Amino acid sequence: MILLPLSLTVSCLLALGSDVLAAPHPSLPVGQSISLMRRQAARRSPAEQGAYLQKRRLALEAKYGIGHAKNKKRASGFNLLTNQDADSSFIGSLAIGTPGQSFDVILDTGSSDLWVASQNSTTDVPNGVSTFKPSSSSTFKSENKPFDITYDSGAAAGTLAQDTVQLAGFKVNSQTFAVVNQVSNGVLSTPVSGLMGLAWSNIASSGATPFWQSLAISSGTLDSPLFAFQLTRFNNASNVQDLEPGGTFTMGAVNNSLFTGNIDYQDIPSGQVGYWIQQIADLTVQGTSINLSSSTGTPNAAIDTGTTLVGGPSDVIERIYAAIPGSAQGTGQLQGYYTYPCSTQVTVTLKFGSSSVAWPISPADFEYQQDPNDPSQCVGAFFPVDNSGTTAPAWIVGDTFLKNVYSVFRANPASVGFAQLSNTALAMNGKGGAAPSPTIGSAGAAVSATGSPGSDRTSNSAMRIQAGAGLGGVTVLAAVTVMGMLF
Ligand SMILES: *[C@@H]1O[C@H](CO)[C@@H](O)[C@H](O)[C@H]1NC(C)=O
Ligand SMILES: *[C@@H]1O[C@H](CO)[C@@H](O)[C@H](O)[C@H]1NC(C)=O
Ligand SMILES: *[C@@H]1O[C@H](CO)[C@@H](O)[C@H](O)[C@H]1NC(C)=O
Ligand SMILES: *[C@@H]1O[C@H](CO)[C@@H](O)[C@H](O)[C@H]1NC(C)=O
Repeated sequence: MILLPLSLTVSCLLALGSDVLAAPHPSLPVGQSISLMRRQAARRSPAEQGAYLQKRRLALEAKYGIGHAKNKKRASGFNLLTNQDADSSFIGSLAIGTPGQSFDVILDTGSSDLWVASQNSTTDVPNGVSTFKPSSSSTFKSENKPFDITYDSGAAAGTLAQDTVQLAGFKVNSQTFAVVNQVSNGVLSTPVSGLMGLAWSNIASSGATPFWQSLAISSGTLDSPLFAFQLTRFNNASNVQDLEPGGTFTMGAVNNSLFTGNIDYQDIPSGQVGYWIQQIADLTVQGTSINLSSSTGTPNAAIDTGTTLVGGPSDVIERIYAAIPGSAQGTGQLQGYYTYPCSTQVTVTLKFGSSSVAWPISPADFEYQQDPNDPSQCVGAFFPVDNSGTTAPAWIVGDTFLKNVYSVFRANPASVGFAQLSNTALAMNGKGGAAPSPTIGSAGAAVSATGSPGSDRTSNSAMRIQAGAGLGGVTVLAAVTVMGMLF
């Protein structure tokens, strides 16, 4: 991978920024005055008069941003993603502060807080991980409140603050986020500096309205109150680099070149908004439906871009592998997983809500990796999770599934939609190359964190800085999973 010196990267971005962001806005040439002298009205035909009146109306609307102009202010933007460690994580880039400090973060629909590592981390931050410097931002405000996230084998802790956050062409002022100064080993892995939660405010540890939700509830800011993902697959490609092109995140619109056919939206079940919940209506393995009834109750799933694999109730997971001859529970390092013969191509399908569509997961995604001790056996991507005593749903449906569809997360009506990937999208799978160069949104609009629309269009400097790539190769299984599960 070729790394640009940092200064060069930044200056290229700035150059791009002014170009891309040149939003049309009417203005008078400076220093020119307008004569107030009343002119004799020219004779106009009725058609001309009509056209003239329309022009006046549009001019007024443009000035106040109402009527037709209201739509013009709306926008969408996108962010090219990075696929880390053969589909382990999908990373986007954002900027925090004034001037913007850029970070690579996991874009996570399974949680609702934004946090980045602090300059003053008391625990080791891996080489190549950018850290946030509050003193370098003129808009930084500390909230002086502690923040922490805990999970199975690690934690991140720090303090809450507010600052300007930019992602995918949008800017939210006074966004609450956490500046984290304690991170357990393995949580940050170069170049990831933190995480952007893309679920709903009611599950935010900070209590803050998440970035995406501020935009979605601010009327007229987004073209549509939604965001969407296309995720690439590299886990069955040869010569996979640590960082590969990861697909496309789009805010405020869907990207028609990345899917075909209709988007099959299914509502989040009533009263369940928090995670992006979908009820699993049917699950087949090799064409046979699996009994979904479980001691954990309703087969609800969080649709979670921040989780690598698919977790489900142990009794149902057991039935899935019972339908795959030669499968067995993993032992030792593979404790908590199942293995099956690599020669078996396993196809699982999932149906959600009241949909008639059974979405297939490719055998390449079901096969997570080879058993290091027995290369004829493979580790399956479905594994048991125990949600008892938590508010998490019984199932966590992560990237193993999401790489197979175009996925749309819609605020209103609160729903998740899936569509078939287009050939354009599929062609990106396994297609190596540099992980994306810095991405600038195609348009920009700013809102304040309370969700009221702001009038200033603003440049988006959300940029990705290519930091030192680690060694290629498969990350330790447990670490990857824990990371995915937790967020
Ligand atoms: C980080 O450390 C620097 C230098 O010691 C200090 O000036 C700054 O206030 C610290 N920032 C935070 C957020 O603790
Ligand atoms: C749609 O996605 C493709 C692939 O990432 C990108 O090149 C294109 O610019 C996107 N289009 C829009 C309108 O966002
Ligand atoms: C599904 O499993 C539950 C729990 O073991 C059982 O009570 C039920 O009869 C099963 N349903 C079918 C259709 O096999
Ligand atoms: C990887 O898996 C996909 C989906 O099953 C398949 O279309 C593709 O050919 C596979 N690529 C390789 C290199 O085997």
